This record gives sequence, C-alpha cells and structure tokens, in this order.
Amino acid sequence: MASAPNKSIIGRMFARKTIAQVQRETESSELKRTLGKWNLLLLGVGCIIGAGIFVRTGSAAALHAGPAVLLSFVVAGIVCAFAGLCYAELSSTLPVSGSAYTYGYTTLGEFVAWVMGALLLLEYGLAASVVAVGWGGYVVSLLADFGLHIPAQLTGPAGYTLMKDGAPVLVDGQTVTTIFNLPAFLICLALAALLVLGVSESAKVNNVIVAIKVSVLTAFIVVGGLIVLSNFSELAAKNWVPFIPENQGDGKFGVDGIMRAASIVFFAYIGFEAVSTAGQEARNPAKDMPFGIIGSLVVCTVIYMLVAAVMTLLVPYSSLNVPDPVAVVVDSFGESWSWLAKTIKVGAIIGLTSVVLVLMYAQTRIFYTMARDGLLPKVFSHVHPKFKTPALNTVLVGVITAVAAGFFDINVLGDMTSVGTLAAFAIVCLSVIYLRRAAPELPRGFKVPFYPVLPVLGILSCVYLITTVPWDVLKFFLWYMLGGVVLYFAYGIWNSNLQHGEPQDPGPEMHEFPGPVED
Ligand code: ALA
Repeated sequence: MASAPNKSIIGRMFARKTIAQVQRETESSELKRTLGKWNLLLLGVGCIIGAGIFVRTGSAAALHAGPAVLLSFVVAGIVCAFAGLCYAELSSTLPVSGSAYTYGYTTLGEFVAWVMGALLLLEYGLAASVVAVGWGGYVVSLLADFGLHIPAQLTGPAGYTLMKDGAPVLVDGQTVTTIFNLPAFLICLALAALLVLGVSESAKVNNVIVAIKVSVLTAFIVVGGLIVLSNFSELAAKNWVPFIPENQGDGKFGVDGIMRAASIVFFAYIGFEAVSTAGQEARNPAKDMPFGIIGSLVVCTVIYMLVAAVMTLLVPYSSLNVPDPVAVVVDSFGESWSWLAKTIKVGAIIGLTSVVLVLMYAQTRIFYTMARDGLLPKVFSHVHPKFKTPALNTVLVGVITAVAAGFFDINVLGDMTSVGTLAAFAIVCLSVIYLRRAAPELPRGFKVPFYPVLPVLGILSCVYLITTVPWDVLKFFLWYMLGGVVLYFAYGIWNSNLQHGEPQDPGPEMHEFPGPVED
C-alpha cells in the first residue's frame, strides 16, 4: 500500500499516503465507538433532507417527469444505495476519518485525491449555494405572506425573466428580469461569519432541526394525503393521467424524462455518505453501517415519494416549477390551511439553514485538509488563534458559495452539483474494486455484497445519470475539471508534502463540529 516519494511525474501523480500515515495525522481526534444503528439512520436522514425535496422536485416534475417523478426517486435512491455500500466498505477498511478525498489519497493516489477535491467542491460548496437559493425562495414567499416584498429584481439569478405559470411576471406592466439573488447571497455570507466564529449546531440542536424537517413534511403528507383520499379518483383522473407524459425529446417526459429527473432529484439524496464517514464511530460497523445507509435511503425515498405523490395529485405538475413548490401545493388546500403553508415555510427555512451550514462546514474542512497536505496554499490551513477555526478558508468558502448563489440559476447549480457528486461516487466504487485487488488482506468491517457486481453497477449507473444532464452543463463541468487538472500540475504536484516526504503535522487544536447525539 505504501508508496515512497517518487520523482517522475507519473510516480508523483500516483503517490499514495499510507494508512499508518493518515492514522497518525488524525490521531489527535480519536473517535469513540458510540453510535448505534438508529443514530446512524437519523444522522443520514438529517443530512439528506433539504432543498432537493423542498425545491428541486418541483422543476423535475414540471419540466421532465410529470407524476412519474416518483419513479425518478426510486432510480436515484438505488444509485445512491450502490455508492453508499461502497462508502461503507471503504470506511470500515481504511480506519481513517475523512471524506472521499482521503480515501482517494490512500488508494488511487494523489492525482485522484486532487480530482476528488475538485469534485467535492461541487458536492459541498456548490450544493450549499443550491440550498441557499432554495432558502431564499421560501424566505421571499414567507415575507410576501406578511406583506413584505423584496424587489423582484433582487430575488433571482443574473439576467433571468421571472416566470409564473409559464408567463413572465408583470409588475406595473413591466416584465421582471432578475439581477441578483440577494437573500441567497446574504445567507451564505451570514453562515460563513457564524462558522468563522466557531458557532455550529450542537448535536441536540441538530436533532431538533431533523425533527422539524421531518414533521413539516409529515404534516404535508398527512393533510394532503387526507384531501387526496377524499377525492382520489377525480384527482388521479385529472392530474395523474397520463402518469408518464409522452416523450417530447431532450429529456422532456417519457422514460428519458424519468431518468433526467432522476439526475435532478439525485440532489435530494446527497448527504447520506455522512453515515459512512461515521464508520469509526459505529459500535458494530459490519451490521450498523448498512442499516444506517440503506435505512436512511429507504426512509427518505418513502418520504420523497409520498411528498411527490401528494404534490402531483393535488396540482397539475406543470405548475410546480416555482421556488417554493411544497408551499404552492399547500395553498391549493384552501384558505383555511394558510397557517399550514406558513408553518411549512418556516420549517423549510429552518431546515435549509442547517443544511447550508453543514455543507459549508464540510467544504471548509476539505480545503483545510488539502492545505495541510500542501495541495492548496498553507494559508487555507491557518487556524484563527481566538476562534480556533480556519477563518480565511471559511471566508473564501463563504464568498464562493455566496457568488454562485447570488448570480447563477438553481437548475444549473443543481445539475453541476449532481454531476460532480455522481463522478465522485463512481470513483468511490472504483476505489473499492482497486482496494480488493491491491490489498485483499486488509480486515474489512463491512464488505459490499455481490462483489464485484454491485460496485460495477454503481460506476455504470453514476456514469449513465451523468449522461442525462444537458450538454451545456457537461461542457461547463469538463472546463471546470480541466482547470482543476491544470492547477494540479501548476501548483499541487510541486507543493505536496507527500512529494517532499514531509509528514503532515496533526495541526493545531481546532473547533470541532459536534457529531450526532450518543445513545
Ligand atoms: N440532500 C440535500 C438537499 O436536498 C443536499 O438539500
């Protein structure tokens, strides 16, 4: 497994950290095995539910799958299950805490670790922007309920015409072209400021927020479900026929549309790998990890399908391409339920705030680790003497996420996040295959069942979903990755500690983000 520093370019690209080395580096944060299977499941559900269901389901149904968005959730959930089991095996085999970046460094080598770092910036940094835009949509909508109107020009990405029910929104006879998404921009900066100060959710606050998120969705399912059941045949005839609208080409409806929508709602599952990265804290990884991963995916899939069923039964799917689709559906319950619409908006805002915070936190820690490895400038690993947080790095993450959230369209941001994450998952599946061959002797707390079929299916399904994303986004993604590769050869490869044979020091004591509540 170990590889000595090597001077040839190829040797440098494939230089690997040894497991002992990574363990030494993370020794300072020795983790206790305190998490039971239910803790792991809750941890997953807490990280997963966010803008995917509260926002993106609407456009997936309206533009791509119609009512069959329910099937898109099943497809995306299965793809995540393949990747999730591979994450579980890696985390139980490589006893190191950390993300796919660290797994990459210890298995496929430095270049892949760098690529993984670039992909994780999409999975965490850009995902934070997507959720922030979703947050903005619910805030604008809630404020409007109380008669407070943020100027429409300041509520969307640069240069977009605001649309409602397919028509431009008219204000005083004028079409509104948005300039900038002020609420989404501000929430990113505000949360970055909190992270600099070391403010983070305590484990208990995290559990309360999970409860709020699940409660508002449950209330939506129960109330909406009762209304649906009271009039099922009429609603189904009106809004569910045809269940799979006819294929119009370009990923619009039909089976192609279901797959395209799967790549969109895939976003709704991002975060489940938090369960696998808690591998070292699991009491019994062999049994509890698959339970936590598959369990949280199943729970979320059921919640998502029920929410999507209520949405598409109660209103025509074509009206769901709005920033706050869940609230729009509640509005259709009738005037007497307006309090529920407001409650759901408040719940969504609280839930989405915590998702942005957790995603931004994760991004700062990835930059921090990469800087300590010498792959990014050391300034990113400076820890503020008073706040004990990587302050400059956090400011950078705040600015990147705020600018992306302020100026770009949520659909483009979401697609970029999905593509980056799907690519990262494919590499994780590949790492499992590599490690089984390269180091079969390593003890594995958990093994992917049906090896090698399952990791291979994981790779193929991730690559397939990537191909359903529009070519414009894929081109942008390829340019982004090319830029990343150029940066690696211009900077990373020459400055990496591993290349100089320098061990990474464990770093100063730093403010830790608390994990889930112990049993
Ligand atoms: N799965 C998370 C969400 O939907 C990222 O917001």
